[in-house]
Amino acid sequence: MPSDEQQELIKLRKINAALMERVERSMDQQGNAYSLFQTAISLEEQVRRRTAELSRTLVDLERTNQQLVNAKEAAEQANFSKTRFLASASHDVLQPLNASLLLMSTLSAVQQDQEGRKLCRQVEHSLESMDTLLRNLLYMSRLDAGDVRPHWQTVSLDKLFDSIASDFEPIAQVRNLELRVRRTGLHVWSDPTMLRRTIQNIVANALRYTKKGGALITAGKRHEHVHIRIADTGIGIQPERFKEIFVEFQRCDLGRDDLDGSSAGLGLGLAIVERMVNTLNIKLSLNSRINYGSCFSLRLPYAEKPVSIAAPSGTLQSVSKTNNVKLAGTRILVIENDLAALQAMESLLTQWHCKLRLASSMQETLSALNSDIKWSPDMIIADQHLNNNERGTSVIRIVRQLTGRRVPAIVVTADPSERLWKMADQGRIEVMRKPVKPAQLRALLTHMRARSFEVSA
Ligand SMILES: Nc1ncnc2c1ncn2[C@@H]1O[C@H](COP(=O)(O)OP(=O)(O)OP(=O)(O)O)[C@@H](O)[C@H]1O
Ligand SMILES: [Mg+2]
Repeated sequence: MPSDEQQELIKLRKINAALMERVERSMDQQGNAYSLFQTAISLEEQVRRRTAELSRTLVDLERTNQQLVNAKEAAEQANFSKTRFLASASHDVLQPLNASLLLMSTLSAVQQDQEGRKLCRQVEHSLESMDTLLRNLLYMSRLDAGDVRPHWQTVSLDKLFDSIASDFEPIAQVRNLELRVRRTGLHVWSDPTMLRRTIQNIVANALRYTKKGGALITAGKRHEHVHIRIADTGIGIQPERFKEIFVEFQRCDLGRDDLDGSSAGLGLGLAIVERMVNTLNIKLSLNSRINYGSCFSLRLPYAEKPVSIAAPSGTLQSVSKTNNVKLAGTRILVIENDLAALQAMESLLTQWHCKLRLASSMQETLSALNSDIKWSPDMIIADQHLNNNERGTSVIRIVRQLTGRRVPAIVVTADPSERLWKMADQGRIEVMRKPVKPAQLRALLTHMRARSFEVSA
């Protein structure tokens, strides 16, 4: 049995152990709290740093957003200016271009030697290229500005393909290529002019970038859609360039060395195609293999064949009797406000031995007619946009009222309006785009002359 001192000692040891344990525990706890305290401080530091970073990023983002808005506004402004510039260029640049082309034709006719004629042809060719470039740029900017509205209607693919084939047949022949068209009797719902232009651009490429073989235009119906395919056996396009070729002024150089250098384009054809298919909701796809060829497919809505197709109002269809018709002696009233264009037209028509009266406005037209009441025009050629907002069509209407006859008339303009095309469709006037091609003008005048003989016979 332990003595009292021993028991006291054991008790004191226990108390001591308990106290030691408590002190150790409390030391531990203090250690944890301290490390927690430290962690909290470091976390708070981190949070502060992150918050600062985040606010910096937010400020940056805001600045970038503002820059983007500014850039977008600048781009829109630039696009607007481009459209406006091109629209005025169409009139201001096409006008002298028109005069130059008419004068070149006259100049070419008076050339005595081979060299002179060759030079004239070269200048004519350059002027025509400039005309094509301007026209394409203008059309592209109009498409960008949403200024071109499709005229939806049922389009016969057979008719469309036939006319494209006859347009491109001479080019195919020169290049020793075969151009084939498969008639299917199918119709689509689209804008005939825009669809035609789309296919023309693709076919032009098919023939330009093909050395051997040729191109085939076909169509097939699948469910409610018609797929038009333009396939060629040409040089092909690398898949990684499929997107790039639709960007304006982008041209692949692949294989170009072997192709006819004179046929090089500007890289606008497919840029226009892309804008037109977007406007017309056509799905375009491309398949190609280098050295095997390419195939462009267009997916359009199917349309039922119309019950009766009205006969087309004749512009240049019935050319049968035109061969015997002579232009010489034909009295033509020419109305044009641009002096250079008026003089160019005068030289050209005089060369064809026509008898002319020239005017630059409604007032001058009336004076010209009143000064010689025995002289009455067989035909009228009028520029559409005259000074002081006068319109060629209004002058034509007044002359027709004065003479009491529907005098055959041509309106010349760089950018025909919808109303003009409608009038042309109804056969009331003919429309010619500026710059006027002398051969086309001559063909149209001869045709109109022949038709007026038929009517009066
Ligand atoms: N069928 C094709 N086969 C091979 N390459 C093609 C074909 N179609 C287009 N390309 C390539 O795509 C490029 C762009 O074509 P796009 O029609 O836009 O311009 P372009 O033919 O060079 O000039 P433009 O059409 O303005 O006269 C061409 O330069 C050509 O390299
Ligand atoms: Mg092209």
